Amino acid sequence: MKPIIKNIYAMEILDSRGNPTVKVFCELENGIIGSACVPSGASTGKYEALELRDGDKSRFFGKGVLKAIKNIEEKIASALKGMDASSQREIDIRMLELDGTEDKTELGANAILGVSLACARASAHSYGLPLYKYLGGLNSYILPVPMLNIINGGVHADNPLDIQEFMIVPHGFDSLKKAIRAASETFHNLKKTLKENGLSVSVGDEGGFAPNISSTEKAIEFILKAIEKAGYKPEEEISIALDCAASEFYDDKNGTYKIEGKELKKDELVSFYEELVKKYPIVSIEDGMAEEDWEGWKIITQKLGDKIMLVGDDVFVTNKKRIEKGIKENCANAVLIKLNQIGSLTETQEAIDFSHRNGYRTVVSHRSGETEDTFIADFSVAMGTGFIKTGSVSRSERVAKYNRLMEIENEVFKAVYPGKLFFKSH
Ligand code: PGA
Ligand code: ZN
Repeated sequence: MKPIIKNIYAMEILDSRGNPTVKVFCELENGIIGSACVPSGASTGKYEALELRDGDKSRFFGKGVLKAIKNIEEKIASALKGMDASSQREIDIRMLELDGTEDKTELGANAILGVSLACARASAHSYGLPLYKYLGGLNSYILPVPMLNIINGGVHADNPLDIQEFMIVPHGFDSLKKAIRAASETFHNLKKTLKENGLSVSVGDEGGFAPNISSTEKAIEFILKAIEKAGYKPEEEISIALDCAASEFYDDKNGTYKIEGKELKKDELVSFYEELVKKYPIVSIEDGMAEEDWEGWKIITQKLGDKIMLVGDDVFVTNKKRIEKGIKENCANAVLIKLNQIGSLTETQEAIDFSHRNGYRTVVSHRSGETEDTFIADFSVAMGTGFIKTGSVSRSERVAKYNRLMEIENEVFKAVYPGKLFFKSH
């Protein structure tokens, strides 16, 4: 029996920062209900689709999402009732037409995405398939290599680190479970090391530590020490990845970057990164340059593009048009994929396909404001992206995704953990 949509409804729930967000339910004629929760960013890209907030200061400081919910229950639900929930493209395009704007300002990207994902979930349940298999087909067998953010800085933490995320990439293992174990043991050794140095071990938004240090090198050295203490080999088994979120320290008037108390020109910032890459086992830098600084992106790609992954997040915002511009202008070599940056499953899938066809890698990512929803774990396997970024190994909204991935690893016959394939030189 076709999974026909009977009703769509939504409610206001809280995200991991305690701010309201949208949860959507898609009820089918056959009685099955699928639901999905929408995440929310803090270092949000300027060109992301609109996250609709009420602006009514008397509720949640204006962050309520009742307008988005009203749009779902009144406008979207009536447009989708009676449709086949497995016609994802049709559903998403119908919503885009109903919205009629470039940035989803009419209905809200949070409203559209919640419905898009809830329909996929309901349909998957209805066909009795796990989400990854429903979305990716029988050939979904490639697990993602996690990039785990174990030191938080930037706008995700109340410390002086300019760089937002210091991640470990446990690639030198033959299973996801071993990689997660290595990450967990490193995390705990990092905690010990920070404590021994009189530093705080409370965690930031993505579950990484937020020590009161300001030096990028110092943060990296703490992590390297922790990897060794845990009995693993830096570079060979576990490498480092950074998300600089450079739009946050870019001065667009002067075209300079303010980092570690210095004001650097574009090429000086790239030299700073080059030195780091020379000195430390860094395999990936995300948002090394600001979202508007295409020129800076060209410089960093020329200098480092054949050595490491250069991931575009704020610069691309999971938007095919911006990815296309980046590819044409030789900016970056990988794309961060966030469903709520673009606001529908179909457009996200198109962005991934387009990137892969042009030789760009993709990293499926959470947001700093997350929920218990594990959609992105299944999604990364379905799309065979090979990479996921979903925080540290603490805070359940982060760990839920890793736990789901380990479940998928158990379930899939001879699932492939591609870490050693991706980083052969190490
Ligand atoms: P955000 O951060 O969710 O706060 O935007 C994540 C990232 O920059 O990758
Ligand atoms: Zn980022």
